[in-house]
Amino acid sequence: MKKTVLVSGGAGFIGSHVTVELIEAGYDVIVADNMSNCDMTCFEGVKKITGKEDIPFFKIDFCKEEEVRKLFSDNKIDAVIHFAAFKAVGESVAKPVMYYKNNLNSFLNVLEAASAHGCHNVLFSSSATVYGEPDKVPVTENTPRKPATSPYGNTKQMCEDILQDTVKATKGTDGEIKGILLRYFNPIGAHPSALIGELPRGVPNNLVPFITQTAIGKRECLSIFGNDYPTPDGTCLRDYIDIVDLAKAHVFAVGRMLENKMKADCEIFNIGTGKPVSVLELVNSFERVNGLKLNYKFAPRRAGDVTAIWADPTLANKEMGWKAERSVDETLAAAWAWEKHLAGK
Ligand code: UD1
Repeated sequence: MKKTVLVSGGAGFIGSHVTVELIEAGYDVIVADNMSNCDMTCFEGVKKITGKEDIPFFKIDFCKEEEVRKLFSDNKIDAVIHFAAFKAVGESVAKPVMYYKNNLNSFLNVLEAASAHGCHNVLFSSSATVYGEPDKVPVTENTPRKPATSPYGNTKQMCEDILQDTVKATKGTDGEIKGILLRYFNPIGAHPSALIGELPRGVPNNLVPFITQTAIGKRECLSIFGNDYPTPDGTCLRDYIDIVDLAKAHVFAVGRMLENKMKADCEIFNIGTGKPVSVLELVNSFERVNGLKLNYKFAPRRAGDVTAIWADPTLANKEMGWKAERSVDETLAAAWAWEKHLAGK
């Protein structure tokens, strides 16, 4: 019997790549999204890549309890991957209530409906932001979380806690929930087909979309925020993880849940490469790989940025059997191919 996975926020950047990998791994996938931060471009791309025209799609608002309940009662769902959330750090500082309301209510509704309708497996998309500015790098899953520096980061921590509490409370009951928290480092790139990728609205907050938009001429100049950090070249260090590699981690995690291979009722995995790359190195690689010159300048530090963070992905490598495979060069070539596809080039 084929298993069915619900992907909330499945029309977005990460959700669309995860949908492709799940379908290619043989799962039936239901995509649900309120389309608040995307259009149908990526969902259409998913259909083209997989050759599957009939992927069930529901336009629902996960903050509306009734809509979520109906989705779970009308469909037999074996596992849910929850992405549907707001994700802009700066915006969350300006509009905390909007962020708490959306990110918490949508997850609470999913948990309640899953538990009530026999869906026992919940995967939550968390972030390395929960580690804050770590005392030691690389970070393992046991590295203590630091107080969140933004409402966005706080919603990730709170949802992690909510899932852990729910797993404990439902153990042995009919509504039992098992959980996996995936802590993503910096997801970048696009599908090698260039049919799906990141579609930021307005001015991008994240580095790679800003780079590709500058290269295509949509933005005049990239500002590198800070070159006086205590790092080898003075710019921040991050763990940039290819979006397809990241998506594949979800297939391993879902398989682990559905095949009862979990070693604890709620597991946590870092999803990263384990290799730190500086902002300047990333920019230089982008130029070299794609054979172009990027207009960039050094600018003051951005408030809230941590100096250096990268993953120790050993647990995901050993325990889940997942490993990041694509090089930063391949990933940056894919990101550029996607930007050109968007521009019709
Ligand atoms: C941010 C969020 C993280 C979230 C992730 C999603 C925080 C502090 N950060 O990570 O939670 O999961 O986005 O992808 O919560 N940079 C520039 N110029 C730019 C843009 C970025 O120099 O125009 C630099 C930043 O200073 C940083 C690096 O590039 O050093 C990466 O930035 P970004 O892509 O925004 O990701 P993070 O801040 O690491």
